[in-house]
Amino acid sequence: MFDPKAFIENSIEEIRKTVGKSRVISACSGGVDSTVATYLVHKAVGEELVAVFIDDGLRREGEPEFVVRVLKDFGIKNRLIDAKAAFFAVFKGKTDAEEKRKAFREKFYRTLGQVAKEEKIDYIVQGTIKADVIETVKGIKSQHNVLSQIGINPEIYGYKILEPLRDLFKPDVRKMGRELGLPSEITERMPFPGPALSLRVLGEVTPERVAIVRKATEIVEEETRHLNVFQSFAVLHNDKATGIKNGQRLYGDIITVRVVDSEDAVAAKATQIANESLRKIALRITQEIPTVVRCLYDITDKPPATIEFE
Ligand code: XMP
Repeated sequence: MFDPKAFIENSIEEIRKTVGKSRVISACSGGVDSTVATYLVHKAVGEELVAVFIDDGLRREGEPEFVVRVLKDFGIKNRLIDAKAAFFAVFKGKTDAEEKRKAFREKFYRTLGQVAKEEKIDYIVQGTIKADVIETVKGIKSQHNVLSQIGINPEIYGYKILEPLRDLFKPDVRKMGRELGLPSEITERMPFPGPALSLRVLGEVTPERVAIVRKATEIVEEETRHLNVFQSFAVLHNDKATGIKNGQRLYGDIITVRVVDSEDAVAAKATQIANESLRKIALRITQEIPTVVRCLYDITDKPPATIEFE
């Protein structure tokens, strides 16, 4: 049985031993894992920690403001790095899923490397958990936050990495967060991938295409909130379909809605949703997003599908 209290005490001791008197930064996206990791390290080293939120232009509506508010509420020093243009530049012309992941990862670590240099630190904290490592090592996909496990030495970016949650699965991370006294708006948050909406824009990631999927995501989240599912989101296809808007034929965008139940993301079931709810989602997405003419619902479990499309 996982004992969050004992785990927290041991981790704090280990973190203090590892980093000594040096300062650290933490890559905090606002997700459960990175926020719990950030809070844990803050408990261990206090003022020596600066949490860094990278605004890569791929986050959900209102997310940068939300994360900064949470960090401020926790009394954690923080910096918001506006890297939107830099991230969109590296995605230019890339359509292959793994190439996009690689481009994101490279930019992510280079951006952190820059901050590490400015802040003169040796260690960066990350919220990597066991599922990230397992899937990457198995070659299912290269999670953006797994480096040494795939043979990349993080020191090429100019720092070492601290991963206090690397041996835990998501349910235990939530237990830790509750034990640490974090609010439920953090501990019960839906998982959200590090490379964010870039995984949900199939094909090229552009500001315009991210804006479409961001709006669709907002609608899906609003309409499924009452279901308390593991994850719910929208995906923009790299394809077009025929539809009719304002009485005119429109060769427009296709959105897939994905809602899944899962314990730890290793396996998942497509959620059965009442038809009226699905129809409302489709109606809102096609009415509120001018370019979308078609809305699909994904009924595939994991396996054989994965939760994300890329
Ligand atoms: P898949 O798509 O592999 O996703 O079934 C399993 C869980 O991991 C999330 N996910 C990621 N999280 N970096 C992350 O931090 C990533 O690169 C990444 N890819 C997938 C996904 O949302 C799901 O919860």
